[in-house]
Amino acid sequence: MRPFNSQAVPKPPRPEFLDDIDWSIPTDLELGSGAGLFAIRYSQMHPERQLIAIERTSEKFLKMKGRALNHGSPTNLFIDQSDVVNWVTHFTPSSSIENYFIWYPNPYPKPQQKNKRYHNMPFTELQMDRLKTGGHLYLATNQTSYFEEALLVYEKVWGLSVVEHKTVDPLKQKPRTHFEKKYLQRGEPCFEACFKKV
Ligand SMILES: C[S@@+](CC[C@H](N)C(=O)[O-])C[C@H]1O[C@@H](n2cnc3c(N)ncnc32)[C@H](O)[C@@H]1O
Repeated sequence: MRPFNSQAVPKPPRPEFLDDIDWSIPTDLELGSGAGLFAIRYSQMHPERQLIAIERTSEKFLKMKGRALNHGSPTNLFIDQSDVVNWVTHFTPSSSIENYFIWYPNPYPKPQQKNKRYHNMPFTELQMDRLKTGGHLYLATNQTSYFEEALLVYEKVWGLSVVEHKTVDPLKQKPRTHFEKKYLQRGEPCFEACFKKV
């Protein structure tokens, strides 16, 4: 894995809400939040925490923005349209994040796309620096090979310990995201893991 060069990462426009984030409050970050189903529910269920939800595409970001408005614009939810690699690199302090959520990331299934998977990116080095000791990374995917690779790489390369890994039980788990809903409705198996920075 080549070292991460943060200097080479473009700096996104500074969101105004950055001044409103209180880094002394427990803070979580969702990578690729899509239309924001999880982000809004989570921020409503955890008023004592802050959630930063970053989505790259304007189409999905605008859906998330509309959804947040329709749900009373939770004041503990901070959403931005950006590449999350750029955002985390430039706007998060070291040891500032308690939980990362990576729900159904783009799988980049072709061998030549391997380096685009989050766990294979040099960026993960910086991402781990931003994670508090004792903090968690949650991952879900419907892709078996992605899941197996991610389990191995987060543990062996990035030193996270695997707290739990399992198949999502559609009878017990209310869908957390739009993609999870879609896959579970189709009867496709989904997999989830929780890792811890020790
Ligand atoms: C398969 S969708 C899943 C969306 C949502 N997490 C869900 O489960 O419904 C993956 C999302 O991640 C976003 N995404 C992929 N790479 C990203 C990046 N580098 N920065 C921000 N968003 C990204 C995509 O635009 C897309 O909306």
